[in-house]
Amino acid sequence: MSDNNENPHDGVAPETTMLSQAPSSTSLTDLGRRYWLPVYKPRELVLDHGKGARLWDTQGREYLDFGAGIAVNALGHQDPDLLAALTTQAHKLWHSSNVFYTEPSLRLAEELVRASGFAERVFLCNSGAEANEAAIKLVRKWACGEGRPPQRRVIVTFRGSFHGRTLATVTATAQPKYQEGYEPLPEGFRYVEFNDPAALEAAFATDDVAAVMLEPVQGEGGVVPAAPGFLQHVRELCDKHDALLVLDEIQCGMGRTGTLFAHVQDNIQPDIATLAKALGCGFPIGAMLAGPKVAEVMQYGAHGTTFGGNPMAAAVARVALAKLASPQVLSNVARQAHALRLGLERINQALATFDEVRGRGLMIGAVLTARWKGRAGTILDHAAGHGLLLLQAGPDVLRFVPPLTITDAELRDGLDRLHAALQDFIAA
Ligand SMILES: Cc1ncc(COP(=O)(O)O)c(C=O)c1O
Repeated sequence: MSDNNENPHDGVAPETTMLSQAPSSTSLTDLGRRYWLPVYKPRELVLDHGKGARLWDTQGREYLDFGAGIAVNALGHQDPDLLAALTTQAHKLWHSSNVFYTEPSLRLAEELVRASGFAERVFLCNSGAEANEAAIKLVRKWACGEGRPPQRRVIVTFRGSFHGRTLATVTATAQPKYQEGYEPLPEGFRYVEFNDPAALEAAFATDDVAAVMLEPVQGEGGVVPAAPGFLQHVRELCDKHDALLVLDEIQCGMGRTGTLFAHVQDNIQPDIATLAKALGCGFPIGAMLAGPKVAEVMQYGAHGTTFGGNPMAAAVARVALAKLASPQVLSNVARQAHALRLGLERINQALATFDEVRGRGLMIGAVLTARWKGRAGTILDHAAGHGLLLLQAGPDVLRFVPPLTITDAELRDGLDRLHAALQDFIAA
């Protein structure tokens, strides 16, 4: 074999790719380094299977999962009801496209409308970015409707937000680091300071705003909840200026903050809301929910996707929705959120690592003190070494988004591992 890596199969003997050979994690991570587009920096471990809030890697090491696949595995791993729904559907029909109806996507749409309390129609898709892309397109289509002032095309979003990686959603994402190099970006987005009512009012001054789009709790931007009363203020401004309110509940929705939809706690209703992540609890699916002002705006041919409403995804999401909306799960969120905050405060009393612990429900960020700013990634390495999988939200914030079904003992165990990892980190 040549050693200049021109042959894409160089260095990968066929047998090393057969799972029955139980390849070492090193050889597998080599594959990632060699063949993946290097847009990610995964931890140096290869996950193999999970159960509840625990995961195991290919070396048999066990981990507590406080990241839940970036707030996706809300019912943990291998939930028996999700498994049953998936396998039952897998034995019936995998895919039909939207040229035909299938029962799971029809039922899921009805159930999402009912659960939302505001939506009349649903567009099913495959990811968060795709749900937000649909929301952006719906705003624009609505804004060019009959009788609307033609200049009102602007969508206001907030600094620190994250709405996805497609060209339109990355433009909605008001963080330059995600946009650099992708210019020219689509026009018609305006960025405003989050939780700043005066700045938002100023953004309406030019009478060109079609919608305001935001996360009730910013996730990637550092786990920053909307301040009390802020969402109500946004709603009032949107009503006053005949603009739409779009809520991105892709990370904070599906029970994560203690209610099925986070905005319920702010006592408002959006015109459009987007879901993904925990909607499929690990099976890819997204949804855009459209309220009465916009439900009839997109007609035949206006939008579409081949896989949206896939029967396997929809069958899983129906079960996820029912379980995540249940009092058992939601009361566990409140219970474990309280325990997690107390545990983090206790760790902080001992180690003084955090300036602030913030968030809502089981979406919590611990902001590192000035001394440890920029070191979240290193702390995550130490945590993994102690059998705890954590996330960061930027370089200065540790992000905790465990399964919503995590037990008292698992949470305690995870906090003990975090304490030990932080002690190691400080000593290093
Ligand atoms: C709030 C929010 N919106 C949108 C997205 C994009 O979702 P996806 O990665 O499924 O495209 C994310 C992903 O992290 C998110 O957190």
